[in-house]
Amino acid sequence: MTSQPGSTADQPGASSGDQPELTADHWWRSGTIYQIYPRSFQDTNGDGIGDLPGITARLPYLADLGIDAIWISPIFPSPMADFGYDVADYIGIDPRFGTMADFDRLVESAHGLGLKVLLDFVPNHSSDQHPWFRESRSSRTNPKRDWYVWRDPAPDGGPPNNWISDFGGPAWEWDEATGQYYSHAFLPQQPDLNWRNPEVIEAMLAAMRFWYERGVDGFRIDVLWHMVKHAEFIDNPVNLDWQPGMGDMFRVHQTHSTDQPEVHEIAARMRALGDEFGALLIGEIYLPFDRLMTYYGSADAPEVQLPFNFTLIDAPWNARALHQLILDYEAALPADGWPNWVLGNHDRPRIATKRGEAQARVAQMLLLTLRGTPTLYYGDELGMTDVAIPADQVQDPRELREPAIGLGRDPVRTPMPWDASENAGFTIGTPWLPLGPDWPARNIAAEQGDPRSMLSLVRHLLRLRRSNPALATGDLRLLDAEANVLSYRRGEDVLVALNLGNADAPLTPPPGEWHPVASTLAALPPPVAGPFTLRPNEGLVFIAAP
Ligand code: GLC
Repeated sequence: MTSQPGSTADQPGASSGDQPELTADHWWRSGTIYQIYPRSFQDTNGDGIGDLPGITARLPYLADLGIDAIWISPIFPSPMADFGYDVADYIGIDPRFGTMADFDRLVESAHGLGLKVLLDFVPNHSSDQHPWFRESRSSRTNPKRDWYVWRDPAPDGGPPNNWISDFGGPAWEWDEATGQYYSHAFLPQQPDLNWRNPEVIEAMLAAMRFWYERGVDGFRIDVLWHMVKHAEFIDNPVNLDWQPGMGDMFRVHQTHSTDQPEVHEIAARMRALGDEFGALLIGEIYLPFDRLMTYYGSADAPEVQLPFNFTLIDAPWNARALHQLILDYEAALPADGWPNWVLGNHDRPRIATKRGEAQARVAQMLLLTLRGTPTLYYGDELGMTDVAIPADQVQDPRELREPAIGLGRDPVRTPMPWDASENAGFTIGTPWLPLGPDWPARNIAAEQGDPRSMLSLVRHLLRLRRSNPALATGDLRLLDAEANVLSYRRGEDVLVALNLGNADAPLTPPPGEWHPVASTLAALPPPVAGPFTLRPNEGLVFIAAP
């Protein structure tokens, strides 16, 4: 954040027009990332589950949309206890998604279209079916025993401490055969790897190298802040504000089971390897800003380039709160840390459900005009909403373990609707999750033909971002939040004004004449030069008159 143009010229992450030209390995600064949940993107073999040839077939759509990189949720061999976030082989492809040859074709096609490919690396835990874990649990003396986190029972025979799984219940599973507990931050089928063991580090870095050598451009790293546990396994502090309905995991603060100092050495090792290949690393980290920022690392030991910033997903939706959030985030960034913003992913409610259709358009305009790399979740460009899943069709283990708390993720993972043909063109079989009921109208083909659709808006904004350096990488200056309008300048020549409510709201723009170039509503208003009124749910991008 700058108060004066150019005042951050000595901060590589925050400067604008006077910034040195972007190099190829900075593609992700100006680029947009698009998350694909592979089970739900495009099926080609009729099994009702999306696959790699399906993604490859849809790459031209993504290139035309104007994104720069795809991040594909896990595609590795897996028993699918957590739909791929339980990896049984870090260097293979699950046959449900295709073959290694399919993967190579996907990478080649993507690169041919100018798209980068990011995979999802799941280092905190493997599947309990991974050969490493099978060996580890086979005996206390097996050479792989220490590759996972094994502890003796507490004196009463119960779990070693009070740590709780993010999916409810103790984070410890008893192993009768060897008389110890193993830790699992998620499902019992997802045993935690022991990142204090140097052999684990080497094996996992070798897996990353394997994919880099196949042409992968980087990784999203799953639950990065969970990877190392306190060396003494001390109890987590009890959360005195816990209420039933919050979910079991919130009974304790994860003070000692997450975000340990030693995780930073590992992140730095991952980065050093990634730098050999010019790769991008994005960390999945749910922590407050002060802790989040530590995952950028230091100049001597850089870590991930983009620690995911998820704060927009839950932010109070009003101008004042968002203004403060943006200020706080920008102020917390390290000098050379590049920002990023996210509106949705495969774990969180969809933005169009949270904010409603009209404000979801405003939210997309916000995402695509803020300073920092945006990540778009598949289907959000259509305004897809959460889909109610009948109880007998629930798939998500999170929902099955704690059905009462409403944190199930199936509703946000439903198939992508492509057109008006059977099953929205997603599959000729039976989709693994039901399609949203609105698919006959809300699908890619229909929205492509409608200049007023959400898809047309997103596509237009992505084009503006590409063609306007100030929008892509310029500095950001917030204007005072007037009424319920959030407004900011990007560089000197771009003004963004977002009405976060459904009532008229006034704005006094900076001096000069401003020409609207994008609107969340059907029609662009005339140019403004002085105070004007934004219509309900109106978001506008303006360019300064020359
Ligand atoms: C991450 C993933 C989530 C998964 C969990 C365990 O939070 O995004 O989908 O269930 O890690 O791997």
